Amino acid sequence: MNLNKILVLHGPNLNLLGKREPEIYGSTTIDDINSMLKEEASKAGFALDAMQTNHEGVLVDAIQAANGQYAYIILNAAAFTHYSIAVRDAIAAISVPTIEVHLSNIHKREEFRHHSVIASVVVGQICGFGADSYFAALQVVIRELNREAGK
Ligand code: DQA
Repeated sequence: MNLNKILVLHGPNLNLLGKREPEIYGSTTIDDINSMLKEEASKAGFALDAMQTNHEGVLVDAIQAANGQYAYIILNAAAFTHYSIAVRDAIAAISVPTIEVHLSNIHKREEFRHHSVIASVVVGQICGFGADSYFAALQVVIRELNREAGK
């Protein structure tokens, strides 16, 4: 396991961040988020890869492929959060700890967003802080990995 690599996965429609319902998701683009995350990770001595897909199977493949390659996954599964047993099972099948993030607070939105089928297989969930949800997750990951490394 390469303890220095973190993977950020963004699910469907997150490619439209910045343009998509900015009153809910904010005006920061996915490229901005990714480059800020990479910079933050590298300052702490970690490499960070990021990927976005609109396709469930591609996300499942990416989660499977992360096994043994990454120390941690930060995942915004977007709409798949609420119904994809395939994504849930992929997370359960690998040994890479995963944090679930959402820009919006899914618990105070429509009823169908309140339930996360992945919540029971992730380490924890951070939601409601806009792009900062990803940054909060990254801080947790960095602290956790440093602790594991005895730093
Ligand atoms: C989201 C919340 C989901 O309910 C929604 O389907 C998304 C984005 C968020 O980041 O707030 O696409 O995951």
